[in-house]
Amino acid sequence: MLRFDIITIFPKSFDPVINDSILKRARDKKKVKICMHDLRDYTLDKHKKVDDRPFGGGPGMVMQAEPIFNAIKKIKGRRKAKVLLMTPSGKTFTQKKAKSFSKEKNIIIICGHYEGIDERVRMRLVDECISIGDYVLTGGEIPAMVLIDSITRLIPGVLGKAESLTDESFEYNLLEYPQYTRPANFNGMNVPSVLLSGNHQHVKEWRKQQAILRTKKNRPDLLK
Ligand code: ADE
Repeated sequence: MLRFDIITIFPKSFDPVINDSILKRARDKKKVKICMHDLRDYTLDKHKKVDDRPFGGGPGMVMQAEPIFNAIKKIKGRRKAKVLLMTPSGKTFTQKKAKSFSKEKNIIIICGHYEGIDERVRMRLVDECISIGDYVLTGGEIPAMVLIDSITRLIPGVLGKAESLTDESFEYNLLEYPQYTRPANFNGMNVPSVLLSGNHQHVKEWRKQQAILRTKKNRPDLLK
């Protein structure tokens, strides 16, 4: 079982995502355990403050080191765990990374906020800083949910036979080929005849060709 520990100032924001659909099923099947930790429970400040102004000046607030150090110490105990920090200044998350994380036993995710996080957290506690893309969100919660979802569905036994992992986008560095279902003619738009031909070899070749065309158009960087 893969255990996620999430350190956040908005623990409830995860509820709709982790209590529904495939993530809920994965938890019920004991394929993953997701433990939420409210960062404010780890501050000694009587107002439960977790941020302060940046040394050197500048706008915004910086998340303080102490509550995060306390949280990680308590959560980790004697367990080994990979510690990830969600931040737009991290390395870009990919399907390849999701696959590698899905083999871990314990993952701790710190959800960043405000203008950033005291650098001593990165230096001492964090194994990898992860960004989900080149844009800035208001916090690391949604990025953490993206990680949990994409990693969990790769754990063997989480997806049913009907939700296969083969031929997905990013397998073999290609985007997924176009899919169609009934009816064969919808409002005058016909399904490509090769898909109705019953010739598996032709279908396979058509799909590969379509995947390459789509990748060239939308993500030429993947073909390099
Ligand atoms: N926090 C804010 N924006 C983010 C991003 N793009 N990726 C990860 N964490 C973030």
